[in-house]
Amino acid sequence: MRALLFLASLGFVAAENGLDGWLRYAPLPCSGHCHSSLPSSIAVLNATETSPVYVAGTELQNGLKGVYGKHVKVSHTKCKSSSLVVGTLDQYREHCGPVHGVPELEEDGFWLNTKGKNVQIIGQNEKGALYGTFEYLSMLAQGNFTKVSYASNPAANIRWVNQWDNMDGSIERGFGGPSIFFEKNRTVEDLTRVREYARLLASVRINAVVINNVNANPIILTPENLDGVAQIADVFRPYGIQVGLSLNFASPQTFGGLSTFDPLDASVIEWWSKITAQIYERVPDMAGYLVKADSEGQPGPQTYNRTLADAANLFAKEVKPYGGIVMYRAFVYNQLDENVWTDDRAKAAVDFFKKLDGEFDDNVVIQIKYGPIDFQVREPASPLFANLPKTSMAIELQVTQEYLGQQSHLVYVAPLWKEIFDTDLRVDHKPSLVRDIMTGKRFNRKLGGSAAVVNVGTNTTWLGSHLSMSNLYAYGRLAWNPADDAEEVLKDWIRLTFGLDRKVVDTITRMSMESWPAYEQYSGNLGIQTLTDILYTHYGPNPASQDNNGWGQWTRADHTSIGMDRTVSNGTGYSGQYPEEVAAMYENIETTPDNLLLWFHHVNYTHRLKSGKTVIQHFYDAHYTGAETAQTFLTQWESLHGKIDTERFNHVRRFLDYQGGHSIVWRDAINDFYYNLSGIPDEAKRVGHHPWRIEAEDMKLQGYKAYDVTPFEMASGTVAVVTTSNTTAGIASTRIGFASGKYDLAVNYYDVYGGKAEWKVYLNDREVGQWVGNGEDTLSHTPSTLLDGHSASRVTFRNVKIHKGDTLKIVGKPDGNEPAPLDYVSLLPAGIVD
Ligand code: GCU
Repeated sequence: MRALLFLASLGFVAAENGLDGWLRYAPLPCSGHCHSSLPSSIAVLNATETSPVYVAGTELQNGLKGVYGKHVKVSHTKCKSSSLVVGTLDQYREHCGPVHGVPELEEDGFWLNTKGKNVQIIGQNEKGALYGTFEYLSMLAQGNFTKVSYASNPAANIRWVNQWDNMDGSIERGFGGPSIFFEKNRTVEDLTRVREYARLLASVRINAVVINNVNANPIILTPENLDGVAQIADVFRPYGIQVGLSLNFASPQTFGGLSTFDPLDASVIEWWSKITAQIYERVPDMAGYLVKADSEGQPGPQTYNRTLADAANLFAKEVKPYGGIVMYRAFVYNQLDENVWTDDRAKAAVDFFKKLDGEFDDNVVIQIKYGPIDFQVREPASPLFANLPKTSMAIELQVTQEYLGQQSHLVYVAPLWKEIFDTDLRVDHKPSLVRDIMTGKRFNRKLGGSAAVVNVGTNTTWLGSHLSMSNLYAYGRLAWNPADDAEEVLKDWIRLTFGLDRKVVDTITRMSMESWPAYEQYSGNLGIQTLTDILYTHYGPNPASQDNNGWGQWTRADHTSIGMDRTVSNGTGYSGQYPEEVAAMYENIETTPDNLLLWFHHVNYTHRLKSGKTVIQHFYDAHYTGAETAQTFLTQWESLHGKIDTERFNHVRRFLDYQGGHSIVWRDAINDFYYNLSGIPDEAKRVGHHPWRIEAEDMKLQGYKAYDVTPFEMASGTVAVVTTSNTTAGIASTRIGFASGKYDLAVNYYDVYGGKAEWKVYLNDREVGQWVGNGEDTLSHTPSTLLDGHSASRVTFRNVKIHKGDTLKIVGKPDGNEPAPLDYVSLLPAGIVD
């Protein structure tokens, strides 16, 4: 037993690069009844290698071997003499005889019945059998030998993933490296990663993947590329996953050479018919089309004064004979004018789509982002869900953390999704949970479900960071059952990804569950949106970028007041797009929850919240609290040292260390910005007061010069320093006036894209630390070429012994575009975060 445990723990800490995600089948000790509870032979009821049931057999074999070291023989007919049987209901009846005790299964559903080593995994179809297999393996990989007997059916038939991959191999808002599908305007030859992706997606019951960007390039439609798409579809098919394609609405003209792309023009219709036939000839089970039109510069039917329904139905008719569907995105909006008090992008989707309810063909599904703007850290549920009772709908989510730290910040997003799913929109004064609307249950629609933007890339971590994979896992689980609990789902993921150690599970659970609230606190709260730079990378802070442009993500912040008045009585009228009870709640400031206050109301900074705090003081406090929580992620993670393999431990460590520093960048930028705007000081006297800081511009500079950073709040004291030449090192030095003792020595600098500057820190000529500006290679977010909120970073050297009067010196060697910029140094006594 000891030896086994020892071996198991060895296996557990072996270096891992993340490629297997949660399907590692890492060894577990097999003690007690374990062996007698494992099947001794497997009957797989389909011998065709490309069938999901066959794949299920292979997974079972690998899983049993990997987790418990048990070699199990697989046969394809010997049903009666095998202890585990996997197949569909029909296959079971044919090979094994009558089935007993299995309730009615819905499409893709399965029955899992384990009595010790005797196991039945029976799917309504082959996919279901594969899903049941992954469920059983997930139990085993979590050391769970409970005898179970239950059926599981999906809440929705649309459980899709949208990749935003471009034909040139780049990925829009992709943070995990280049595409696994495309390079140089062609589909890739080596589809190994595609197969591995298929395996991960199937294990969480995803049933379709759209492989190209919604901002679609028509060259996906060349015969060569369609051949490539067919090869990709062949790889996904054994995993029960269909491929779908994003279309560019203008293709008949820009790619097909027609003079028009009018959706009602006969030549255009014929053109799409031909293309569709060519696709289905190669991919007979193609899932369907995804369409982004009349949105953010994308062409659409409005060019010809046609309705969005005309456009959606055009494609619907084409794919219908083949069994395909059209996912038509509700993300349609125009540029607006902030000087017009009633202009409001949040209203756009209802304005465009409500009047078309009932006009869409049966195989059209409107794909609606969870909130009315764009994947912000908090939004109310999109009112469109309440306005299309005669139309099929699906919710659009983002596993990709575009506005949520781009995978360089730990943000477990499932709790955000859950808040939306569980929102009751009270259509016709009846219970109308978003999750029941999107799945089709509330309005009796056959089609419904979800699609998530999941921009995995060739990075072995898939998304750019190991911890982000909890979001992909949770997405699949919640797509199957949106009523599941976000924390329970998370725990399964942790056990499968990092093992069963109690402390590991508890710690990662705590960090993850704290992560979205913390991110909201230090980025943008009270419903004001993420406050990121919406004009550039969507990553770091830049609150001013929200306003004074046509994008409509406004905060309407001025010297005295802030927030969007979306009331019917005095504002944009958006709140009136909700059914009566919900509209009344949001219309009234008293009944609007604080966390959405500024989404719905324009108030003075001195307005008192239900908590008793003023809006501005809430901002200050929340930004401090959020950043403090983010500091604990690193220490929590470090407490797991030795319990996680070195490769993943160090990788995550680097990210969390960085996040702690960047959360302070966020905190200070937002607080300084609103302090400057409102002139109202922080009651706790923290904002603008940093007693432990030494500004770089106040140090003695040689080969460094002061640099005014814009916007001003992206530098402590508004000024940073940069080297005077791009070849010679700069030196910034100062005498330390603080009392002797141990300090954490933090240096805030800018990690600019386009160079790998090197910095060294000395105390009296003794080197205490060094680092390189290589975040563009080691982190996952979009890098910036400027000194701004995206490039602002912090490095911390802990427990440094300092004597009063020591000389602190930083030598920065510029490289390329990176002039070794420095903002400030903090010497932090134990317990101080600043
Ligand atoms: C966001 C995102 C874009 C994307 C768009 C969409 O605006 O920043 O990159 O194209 O959403 O969902 O279509």
